[in-house]
Amino acid sequence: MNATIISNNEKHYPVLLDEILSIISPQNGGTFIDCTFGQGGYSKAILKNPKTKIIALDRDLNSEKFAQELKDKNKNRFLFYNLKFGDLEKIELTNNKINAIIFDLGFSYIQIKDLERGLSFKSAGPLDMRMGINNFSASEVVNTLDQKDLNLIFKIFGEEKDSKQIAKNIVRERKKNKIDTQKLVDIINFSKKKNNKKTHNATKVFQALRIFVNKEVSELISGLIKSVKILGKNGIIVVVSFHSLEDKIIKFFFKFLSEKNKVSRYLPDSINSPKVLKL
Ligand SMILES: C[S@@+](CC[C@H](N)C(=O)[O-])C[C@H]1O[C@@H](n2cnc3c(N)ncnc32)[C@H](O)[C@@H]1O
Repeated sequence: MNATIISNNEKHYPVLLDEILSIISPQNGGTFIDCTFGQGGYSKAILKNPKTKIIALDRDLNSEKFAQELKDKNKNRFLFYNLKFGDLEKIELTNNKINAIIFDLGFSYIQIKDLERGLSFKSAGPLDMRMGINNFSASEVVNTLDQKDLNLIFKIFGEEKDSKQIAKNIVRERKKNKIDTQKLVDIINFSKKKNNKKTHNATKVFQALRIFVNKEVSELISGLIKSVKILGKNGIIVVVSFHSLEDKIIKFFFKFLSEKNKVSRYLPDSINSPKVLKL
């Protein structure tokens, strides 16, 4: 992928930083995994305590430049992998006990502003949407998948009410010309029965395509399962998320892991067994 950083002055401001720090307590030292390094907002703050170590990951190769700066400043305390967090088992852990694993899901401000990535419906460029380490782009999805699959993607990942009509019109229009970002926005606009009042008409379809292209749901599930396997005793997993589908997955996962599960609801509490599902 050939994504460019727009300007050196553009900056992603880490969200909920104080809240994250108060949960993971870096003042006590320890080793932390930053699964979504981005521009390193969280990592930098954690590394302020000289007794901390960070293992950072990001699937976007553009993060490497920011990681190099941290590596230079924090010799032997900072490691970076250009990896997806779904491949968390590939990192080298040596003997470090992991105190906390942090996920700040989604895209950074810098990625959204990079018009070449085609993440925004304002983009004039190609329909790309790849974060990094992907198998296909949004253009391949929109220009090749059949109507039934497009409908399902928009309906499930975008909760788009007019998914059927949009999918139908995409398949009809792409017979004439390849669909790029602006063409897709036009198709969505004329397919919608009612204009959205609060958000842009294309918001949900664009969200659905981003989730599908980057396999965000399976990444999240896999990242969470693998985190549990490498986390030390009393370790903490922190996840910052913005959309409801992720929120449901995270809450289900945390609830499941923090409850004692019975073998059967017909058995009394006294013979409660250990957790049924082994991660
Ligand atoms: C919201 S930004 C994180 C910003 C970061 N906390 C900071 O302070 O700069 C999310 C970052 O996670 C990365 N990312 C998203 N999904 C990922 C995945 N499955 N594996 C690795 N990195 C991922 C994106 O490339 C992006 O850089």
